Amino acid sequence: MEKQETLDNHQDLITRFLSMTDDDVANPSPLLSDDEIVDNCTIAMIAGHDTTSVLLTFLIKLLSEHPHVYQTVLNEQEEIANRKGSLDEPLTWEDLAKMKYTWKVATETLRMNPPIFCSFRRVVQDFELGGYTIPKGWQVFWTAFMTHMDESIYPDPSTFNPARFDNQGAAPPYSFMAFGGGPRMCPGYEFARIETLTMVHYLVTRFQWKLSLEENLFGRAPLPFFHQGLPIQVKIKKPLHDDNDDVIM
Ligand code: HEM
Repeated sequence: MEKQETLDNHQDLITRFLSMTDDDVANPSPLLSDDEIVDNCTIAMIAGHDTTSVLLTFLIKLLSEHPHVYQTVLNEQEEIANRKGSLDEPLTWEDLAKMKYTWKVATETLRMNPPIFCSFRRVVQDFELGGYTIPKGWQVFWTAFMTHMDESIYPDPSTFNPARFDNQGAAPPYSFMAFGGGPRMCPGYEFARIETLTMVHYLVTRFQWKLSLEENLFGRAPLPFFHQGLPIQVKIKKPLHDDNDDVIM
């Protein structure tokens, strides 16, 4: 008898992993060991949460430091917000599709500060690179930085310049590696885009903020983190509150 699988929308990830069984219908065994379930949950939390929060943290910093970029993002987002009937009217897919400049800013932020700066690949057949033979079976390590800081792809690579993504179609393949590439490319790319654009929309249209520290260096462990956190002062904007001088954070 063929085994049938149904996915209950109310099942959370751990319940789903625990209930996955092999094809032996009469005497099913768990498909994943406890260690594999723990590994998968850890991956889901790091891959699905920490990456986007790193991107948003850098966006908050870079938008503060680049007033012209901030203003262009604000104009784009206010135009979308102003077309809404009320403050509570949610964003739509069409709204997200209009946030083109904001996504270029996020892409440039990811180019300069990729949350995941490297990954590994197993070589499946011998190949030549720069006069060296890389044999089948080797594990190779790629870093997004090497590509993102390559002047032949991104002129003046240390300058934050979202306009460099105006003509993305002209870039060589695999020149933007923040989400990896190939069959194991990040499956959360589209979700991360939606989360980021939505967050930036509400951030710039409803709040103003400024950085509390003039200089704030960051390290990696292995994801980037600011040594002193990223303290900011936030004000609620009009028209949400008329007495809007309250610092809320
Ligand atoms: C700005 C946000 C994000 C960045 C920069 C990012 C980046 C990456 C990178 C570089 C990889 C490795 C790709 C490769 O080896 O080619 C990856 C894998 C993965 N990402 Fe993301 N990611 C982000 C958001 C998300 C989100 C929101 C989710 C889930 C909701 C997610 C789920 C995953 C998973 C499950 C993998 C492993 C895929 C596999 O091994 O086949 N990521 N991500």
